[in-house]
Amino acid sequence: MRNNRLDALTDYPFQRLTALLEGLRPGGPPIVMSIGEPQHAPPALLAEALARSPALWGKYPPVAGTPEFRAAVAAWLGRRYALPADYLAPDRHILPVAGTREALYMAATLCVPDSIDGQKPIVLVPNPFYQVYSGAGLIAGAEVQFVDARMGPPDYTRLPDALLARVALAYLCSPANPQGGVANLDLLTRNLALARRFGFTLALDECYGEIYDREPPPGGLEAARRLGSGLKNLLVFNSLSKRSSVPGLRSGFVVGDPELIAAFTRLRSYGGAVLPLPILEASIALWGDEAHVVANRVLYRAKFDLAERFLGNRFGFARPPGGFFLWLDVGDGEAATKALWQKAGIRVLPGAYLARPDEQGVNPGQGRIRVALVHDPDTVAGALERLARTLEEGY
Ligand SMILES: Cc1ncc(COP(=O)(O)O)c(C=O)c1O
Repeated sequence: MRNNRLDALTDYPFQRLTALLEGLRPGGPPIVMSIGEPQHAPPALLAEALARSPALWGKYPPVAGTPEFRAAVAAWLGRRYALPADYLAPDRHILPVAGTREALYMAATLCVPDSIDGQKPIVLVPNPFYQVYSGAGLIAGAEVQFVDARMGPPDYTRLPDALLARVALAYLCSPANPQGGVANLDLLTRNLALARRFGFTLALDECYGEIYDREPPPGGLEAARRLGSGLKNLLVFNSLSKRSSVPGLRSGFVVGDPELIAAFTRLRSYGGAVLPLPILEASIALWGDEAHVVANRVLYRAKFDLAERFLGNRFGFARPPGGFFLWLDVGDGEAATKALWQKAGIRVLPGAYLARPDEQGVNPGQGRIRVALVHDPDTVAGALERLARTLEEGY
């Protein structure tokens, strides 16, 4: 016997990609651009901080982390979003998590009740989307309602009141994976006000918040400040994975509504991966340093310059305001993925694997591929040249 809700999960996109390319040989030195795993070297201060306190590996870490960690995160948030000094109470507002993935998943367990006015609760998910959102909603027993996000993070105020009355949780990603669109402050504010009006939680995934082209994307905390009433109905998720190029460190945080943070802490005491103390120490050092983040952005900008050079305005390329993905319009995403692998050794992800068919049966990712610009600029230059040539030849 097992949980029958698991049947509602599709294979994860990377398993589907493995199945698609099974038995096909790469037509060049393989380069993996399918996964958003930053490959820039992490700053030296990471290794230094990790080596500083070996004795801490001998201790079970507290679920809520250390006061020093929470203070470091609060200080970073204060600088990044220009918050007044006393706006955040680190002990009530901030919880460390082992990367945002697990925390975004647990958010549904935290927020979805058995029923809302006798009806099945709804979880709102932008479409296309980071796959964890829908899996989290389904396993929590909710109905997942996909909302068109082709043009960027959606405005949930457009949904009918009858539907909104059943919403327990709404995910929003800004900058968005895969499209790179950024929610402006008005949109964030409208979505948070809506969450308060209908009593649901807005789960704002900001893990690409430090990977931007020109303007720093606004954050959920700024929207909350605009509205007043503290951080009610809001959970913001962030991690060091993309900001500091350390996806293997598994270090992130949730900041938000103190009641939700208290319940989240209790939930994580049962089922959460707790961050080891040396990882918390290293995280303090990373959140306290901006130089390596600025250097990261310089590299990403250089890679989008390369994309402009090799792609121009072909294949639906438009330089995104945030994130590190190309979201290219190639006609048939699966066919293009196979061709890029077989002719050029480039592994990308079919866009359809990151989306679900809408009410008309149209999958908004169908004609697309997602290409992660995570390698160094020289590698990316070579890959983009091969990619453009292969797409031009047709498949
Ligand atoms: C949109 C989005 N959210 C969350 C995550 C999870 O990142 P992490 O768990 O490393 O913080 C990813 C990783 O690719 C992502 O693309």
